[in-house]
Amino acid sequence: MKLERLEEFQIDAQKEGQIAELLGQCFPDYPGGRIHFKQLPDFRYLCWEGDGLIAHMAVEHRLVNNDGELFRIFGIVDLCVAEAFQHRKLASRLISELSILGLQHRVDFLVLMAKDHGLYLSNGFQAVSNNCRWLMIQEHQSLGIAQRRVQSSLMVKALGKKKWRPGLVDLLGHVF
Ligand SMILES: CC(C)(COP(=O)(O)OP(=O)(O)OC[C@H]1O[C@@H](n2cnc3c(N)ncnc32)[C@H](O)[C@@H]1OP(=O)(O)O)[C@@H](O)C(=O)NCCC(=O)NCCS
Repeated sequence: MKLERLEEFQIDAQKEGQIAELLGQCFPDYPGGRIHFKQLPDFRYLCWEGDGLIAHMAVEHRLVNNDGELFRIFGIVDLCVAEAFQHRKLASRLISELSILGLQHRVDFLVLMAKDHGLYLSNGFQAVSNNCRWLMIQEHQSLGIAQRRVQSSLMVKALGKKKWRPGLVDLLGHVF
């Protein structure tokens, strides 16, 4: 098994096709042939078994405003593992790699949205229930600003000493 981290601009057409295939297998509603839902991420982790892509995690590096305090975050997007390779702690390994990277580079929190909390609770995340503000994007068009709780729960993992607050979270961009 080989793990690589690529900047988004380094993803070539062949890798794009492989990522799109894995996303389509893992998320049946994923827009066909695409490797983004709303917007391109900043970088991705790709896990290979031979020439086959077996796990993927996209990451957005962003500032968010939590109740007046600015936090540097890594937002986790489209984490998935090919079915034949699930339950072998691959997703946990990817989260752990990202936690180490964030700790090395002054990132305050990992942030994600998830309906099923199992994987994340066992990897140091907590579910929070903040009101959020974000830019609504649908099919590559900006529709306006939303402010409410997100449908799937917001989950955060502190990497440093900063405390997540219960007030408004302005995501300063689209929801990931
Ligand atoms: C969720 C997923 C990434 C986990 O990958 P994995 O490599 O099997 O994860 P790990 O082995 O590190 O941890 C497995 C644990 O995650 C939890 N888990 C399983 N499916 C999950 C899901 N859809 N969401 C959150 N947690 C999940 C279970 O507690 C599981 O424990 P078990 O192996 O004892 O059953 C993988 O099942 C997957 O790709 N599912 C389809 C896509 C998806 O739902 N992605 C999550 C988007 S938020």
